[in-house]
Amino acid sequence: MRPVDSLLDFLRAEEARGVRNVHLDDQAKEVLRELHRRARVAKPSAAPSPRPAAPSASAAAAPSASRMPMASSAPVSSPASASPARIAVPSLGGPAEKIAALAEQAAHWAPARQLGTLRDRLVFSAGDPAARLMLLGEAPGYHEEQQGTPFAGPAGQKLDDILRAMGLDRSQVYISNLVKCRPASPGQTTNNRKPTPEEMACWLPFVRAEISVLRPSCIIALGASAAEGLLGLSGAVAAMRGRWHDFEGIPVRVTYHPAYLLRGTSGNSDKRAVWEDMLEAMEKLGLPISDKQRGYFTKPG
Ligand code: URA
Repeated sequence: MRPVDSLLDFLRAEEARGVRNVHLDDQAKEVLRELHRRARVAKPSAAPSPRPAAPSASAAAAPSASRMPMASSAPVSSPASASPARIAVPSLGGPAEKIAALAEQAAHWAPARQLGTLRDRLVFSAGDPAARLMLLGEAPGYHEEQQGTPFAGPAGQKLDDILRAMGLDRSQVYISNLVKCRPASPGQTTNNRKPTPEEMACWLPFVRAEISVLRPSCIIALGASAAEGLLGLSGAVAAMRGRWHDFEGIPVRVTYHPAYLLRGTSGNSDKRAVWEDMLEAMEKLGLPISDKQRGYFTKPG
């Protein structure tokens, strides 16, 4: 990838986080002037085309996983000069074809390879690419990497329970993660780690592209990392939840990660808090809500 592409990716990620001004020192200005001069003298045919091949097949549901073209499941570290660093959302086709095209490009995403801190198996998304509700987690873990689909382990079962309580199932919503490959750590077996800000920023252009395809009625950010990566928020989920945020005109609700509800330290009040966020989402989606549903988790326990 050319340095200018890294710079553009960084600036797009900053813009997505709401940053509107960047400080440029004299040296940075000179580097930009030099890039500008080179671009003006470069032959048009010398510029690599950022547009990958059009997707060949249409998918009925969101594609979940494919292997990035690497030799092993070690952290991604090989040079990626032949890999694209720009994302192209096809203008033709339906949401399923567009999400399939994004997944295909994600499998060759140069910035992720260049970080060298992520494993190589791509876990893109699951569910309905035309869904009105999008759920966003932080990153695949051991179970997701094994099964090639987001939220495949115990946290995923908890998420399924929550969806069932809402009268929904996985096939009716779109489930994705901010980071599309499992964060690597030395001697890793089944242990997972949170994605770093760099890893989240590197994949944010794909999340933006997914959102631009779906234009969901609302997004639920599951946990602090998803909220940090998508909305640029920091701090505790308790301070972020309970109100609507905005991502490029789409209402976003932040709530506790399902894995948090599985911890011994979380109690009925946390379950109720998640449920209240889900009730808000149901209202936003215009889903019917029964008295029984309204009353879930109101008893202390
Ligand atoms: N946690 C996440 O945030 N995402 C997954 O896909 C699984 C667990």
